[in-house]
Amino acid sequence: QAGVFTYDPGFTSTASCDSTITYIDGDQGELWYRGYPIEQLAAKSNYLETCYLLLYGELPNPAQMADFDARVTRHTMVHEQMHNFYRGFRRDAHPMATMVGVVGAMSAFYHDSVDINDPVQREVASIRLIAKMPTIAAMAYKYSIGQPFVYPDNELDYASNFLKMCFSVPAEKYTVNPALAKAMDRIMMLHADHEQNASTSTVRLAGSSGANPFACIAAGIACLWGPAHGGANQAALEMLRQIGSVDRIPEYIAKAKDKNDPFKLMGFGHRVYKNFDPRAKVMKESADEVLDLLGFHNNPTLQVAKELEKIALEDPYFIEKKLYPNVDFYSGIILEAMGFPTSMFTPIFAISRTVGWIAQWKEMIADPQNKIGRPRQLYVGADRRDYVDLKSR
Ligand code: SDX
Repeated sequence: QAGVFTYDPGFTSTASCDSTITYIDGDQGELWYRGYPIEQLAAKSNYLETCYLLLYGELPNPAQMADFDARVTRHTMVHEQMHNFYRGFRRDAHPMATMVGVVGAMSAFYHDSVDINDPVQREVASIRLIAKMPTIAAMAYKYSIGQPFVYPDNELDYASNFLKMCFSVPAEKYTVNPALAKAMDRIMMLHADHEQNASTSTVRLAGSSGANPFACIAAGIACLWGPAHGGANQAALEMLRQIGSVDRIPEYIAKAKDKNDPFKLMGFGHRVYKNFDPRAKVMKESADEVLDLLGFHNNPTLQVAKELEKIALEDPYFIEKKLYPNVDFYSGIILEAMGFPTSMFTPIFAISRTVGWIAQWKEMIADPQNKIGRPRQLYVGADRRDYVDLKSR
């Protein structure tokens, strides 16, 4: 029952809440956004339409979609003074560090014009965040490689605009590959929301104190960065590269099973899914398509990933522990093939998840009963005792 805390030493209870946004069935490997199965949305919808669905609860009609697209497109640029923030970072700063800083700093640029108690103002902030995240992430990438920032091109769709801001340079003509844009759009959609995961719970908790939405999303970005959560896509690809060849897979499977070895197979396992993560299945198909398109037919990393998945899924340990590939197992292979460094994998996850964080934040704000507020604990520390002076200890 939502909101009911039961303390069971074997079970880490987390703040729970009612939500109408996303449904996960971990045993069946089901994921629905507002009741629509992710497989159908991945096959027929696109990221911006999915944003509309997550935010407003229904699929848009053509007029609603055109209006939403125009409202988002109008806000893709950031305040020119925000460019200065990037120059305060070392060039080799991880783009997630930059994003936490810059998105948090949006509070200084946009927060004072946003009264979060006014639904209209909440909408303004929401649209600004969804619109500006690709620009902020692309600027973090450009800064890290010493190239000039590329302004958004509002003639392009959301995913194409992001690719152009990352990979074009003022000195050369750049045309977005529509197949890559579609693959990027699908990756964004698959990451858009995922119920009460760690970073979404962080955003809800921050929002329950009345903090402004820019600060709440910055808190979500910080939490997503962890390798057990959104940072796993970077860690999974680095692990596959470290394994390097199919013949070394048994060595790493043994490490993952060794209780004394902290190593975990990155991109495997999930707090909720005890079956295939439905997003991983779509991502695997997309990986085949993108790598074929880009001519990476025999990409060694993809070969290692497929063989590792096959071996792990047949291994009694992984079967008994119900460990399956999750959304992060294949995403890095696609992003690397597109030309992104591993350090940009989690920023792309953050762009995608911003709409989910915002939809959940708005739901929490709109329903006072739904505030996580202040989770309680069961105290198991020292009993009450009196202070002892230093000289007597
Ligand atoms: C995301 O919450 C979300 O929805 C998150 C996310 C989203 O969209 O927001 O789906 C995105 O964060 C996906 C997860 C990405 N993280 C990784 O791929 C990192 C590798 N995975 C592990 O760190 C782990 O699987 C977790 C953290 C994801 C889940 O850990 P749990 O809750 O401990 O998993 P479990 O209870 O199912 O584990 C059962 C057993 C445990 O061993 P025992 O205590 O029973 O001896 O399996 C072991 C775990 O130690 N185990 C693994 C393993 N994952 C769990 N052993 C080896 N390799 C792994 N990957």
